[in-house]
Amino acid sequence: MVSAPGRVNLIGEHIDYHGLPVLPMALRRSIRIHFQARADCQIRVSSGAYGHREFAWTPGLTPVARGDWENYLRAAAQAIAGKWGVMNGIDATIASDLPPAAGLSSSSALIVAMTLALLRANHRAASFEELMEILPDGEQFVGTRGGGMDHAASLASREGCASLIEFVPLAVHHIPIPADWAFLVADSLQIAEKSGAVRERYNAVRTAGTEALRQTGFASYAEAIQGRTEEELGDLAAAKHLSPAFLHVVTEAFRVRHAVEAMHEDDSALFGRLLLASHASLRDRLEISCPALDRLVDAAMASGALGARLTGGGFGGCAVVFCHRGDLSKVHDGLVERFYSGNPAHILHAEPGPGAVNS
Ligand code: GLA
Repeated sequence: MVSAPGRVNLIGEHIDYHGLPVLPMALRRSIRIHFQARADCQIRVSSGAYGHREFAWTPGLTPVARGDWENYLRAAAQAIAGKWGVMNGIDATIASDLPPAAGLSSSSALIVAMTLALLRANHRAASFEELMEILPDGEQFVGTRGGGMDHAASLASREGCASLIEFVPLAVHHIPIPADWAFLVADSLQIAEKSGAVRERYNAVRTAGTEALRQTGFASYAEAIQGRTEEELGDLAAAKHLSPAFLHVVTEAFRVRHAVEAMHEDDSALFGRLLLASHASLRDRLEISCPALDRLVDAAMASGALGARLTGGGFGGCAVVFCHRGDLSKVHDGLVERFYSGNPAHILHAEPGPGAVNS
């Protein structure tokens, strides 16, 4: 059996694919795959909720119909094949307690779990670095040109900690979350299906950031930020008429740094303000929020949260809500009352769990 958790990103949104550090944590909710090795190349997978899928693992797999979850299974097989070649298939069953299409990375968790299942069935050991070489690109098979945050968080997180993930070079630093800090993940009920319409909008946000960087002449965002203040970067953006995406990326990078300091220093008020500033930047500069997410953030604050923001790719999905542990029920009940008209089904208490390779 392999188990790959989902993640909630605390801060650092839409910057992982620009090579900048992000701060997610793994959830105690995961995709689990029970598997048995086969002696041929068939991959046969059943999932209670989503039915049965079967295909032959051959070199050069191509996607099936857009939006079909088989693509995630194929993405894993194809990612492995690209590095190690085709192997034997598996008979597998999938179980999950991770809500799909909610910005909690159920799709990446599925690819991570499937990749680990296929490798283990074939007795192939793979290091974290090797997995990170193949997984983020593998997901592009499905059509979303995401970064490596979700896979790194699902693989390498540690219980009780947030994961500060750096990409250049790849590193994960485990930052202990102060005992008094608590997080809720609340669903906006606006579905953000990664493989559906949202993927073009997601990819467009990435392109806008890349294009703005190109106009500055810097080789990377890390180079643009190095040795410069937020004010200097603001002046640069104004002088060159850069798209607002540029300012989102650079200010979010500073917010991640400050958020890590706040966590180290147990400064919950600062951490809460950073979450709100991140949400405002995602809403106003990247325009990837939606009325439901904005209302959810407002409802969280009105209920006594210290901060809240949309989490994940955006356009719907969940908000992460931050509060003192002692205020958890007050904030929870306030949200149920203000946002969900009394129905508590769409909020989960997010506790930092271990990643797939640490469990
Ligand atoms: C999705 C992607 C991640 C990241 C976020 C936005 O979840 O899979 O790599 O880009 O969006 O921060």
